[in-house]
Amino acid sequence: MPNKTLAESDYSQFKQFLEQHSGIVLGDNKQYLVRSRLAPLMGKYDLPSLSAVIQQSMKPMERQLRSEVIDAMTTNETLWFRDRYPFELLGSELLAEFAHLGRPIKIWSAACSSGQEPYSLAMTVLETQQKKPGSLPAGVTILATDLSPTMLERCRAAEYDNLALGRGLSEERKRQFFEPMPSGTMRVRDNVKRMVTFRAHNLLESYAALGKFDIIFCRNVLIYFAPEAKAKILRQFAAALNPGGILFLGASESLAGLTDEFDMVRCNPGIYYRKRR
Ligand SMILES: C[S@@+](CC[C@H](N)C(=O)[O-])C[C@H]1O[C@@H](n2cnc3c(N)ncnc32)[C@H](O)[C@@H]1O
Repeated sequence: MPNKTLAESDYSQFKQFLEQHSGIVLGDNKQYLVRSRLAPLMGKYDLPSLSAVIQQSMKPMERQLRSEVIDAMTTNETLWFRDRYPFELLGSELLAEFAHLGRPIKIWSAACSSGQEPYSLAMTVLETQQKKPGSLPAGVTILATDLSPTMLERCRAAEYDNLALGRGLSEERKRQFFEPMPSGTMRVRDNVKRMVTFRAHNLLESYAALGKFDIIFCRNVLIYFAPEAKAKILRQFAAALNPGGILFLGASESLAGLTDEFDMVRCNPGIYYRKRR
């Protein structure tokens, strides 16, 4: 019988390890979360106990197990057109503002989970092009990144079941941007898929290879991080944004006390942040 107990010493060592490698801070009483998320790996790796999973995953040469353990500890809750206003604002004002650059507008969905955010961005761009033909002459490129290989696989497959489709999508958007699959799921159409490039990226690591952006969406991930990690990530976002570039955070997240490189813009409903010029 596999042993699912989690000693206090294993838990506190694992907490430190997880924060160091992903930024995710586990609260003091989240043993149940570690147990439920990592228990399936005991069978998969033929390890006798949860403690063995944790101890093995902390060894640098166990790269595959380590990656699966971190992957399993991520929270991937997401939905289509989440919070609505960022997408509405993009379509009504922000894309037009950046359209005069004479080059593609560059958007980054940082921590994209299973793809709903970057695909909602792509749909917003397509809708803007339909409403105002010729308004985005150089087009838009969307980079979407996440730490989790499982999520990136789902993003690339772009296939969603009824439960996922029911969260935030209108019937009109379903009809226009998805094609039905024989299994009963629906797949994002190629014209939407083509607009998004997916790539593995850890927000704690360097952003140098990603290039510069006009708009960054990083929503509902910094809430899991400690203030020092948040501040470092925000410094890196400021460096990755072109002057006047825009940052959207999640509805419950803020920059307060973490950086002074952005101005807050109230757009009622909601806010966004603009990099100082
Ligand atoms: C709650 S989801 C948010 C998805 C989407 N941005 C939204 O707002 O709907 C958080 C995502 O952050 C990712 N994540 C966690 N730590 C990360 C890190 N250090 N680097 C990159 N992504 C990370 C997780 O894998 C997960 O997919």
